[in-house]
Amino acid sequence: MFAIEARDLVKVYSGNVVALNGVDLRVEEGASHAILGPNGAGKTTFIRIITTQIKPTSGSQRQR
Ligand SMILES: Nc1ncnc2c1ncn2[C@@H]1O[C@H](COP(=O)(O)OP(=O)(O)O)[C@@H](O)[C@H]1O
Ligand SMILES: [Mg+2]
Repeated sequence: MFAIEARDLVKVYSGNVVALNGVDLRVEEGASHAILGPNGAGKTTFIRIITTQIKPTSGSQRQR
């Protein structure tokens, strides 16, 4: 069982800005992960999706 499970997440803003292009991540319960990347890499978009603040364009995610 994973605390976070994201599969093939895609987020396209405004019809043409591809912020996420097929992101998979599984985080086991009790594990700590860091998400690193330059400005514009999609970190905030990813966190907003897995915290259900915004919806992905496609893909699935679930968290406990
Ligand atoms: N609300 C939004 N509308 C349009 N484009 C956005 C929006 N939020 C982020 N973006 C674009 O999506 C890409 C990823 O941004 P973001 O998730 O904020 O990355 P990070 O947090 O890694 O800097 C960037 O190209 C950014 O300009
Ligand atoms: Mg950010």
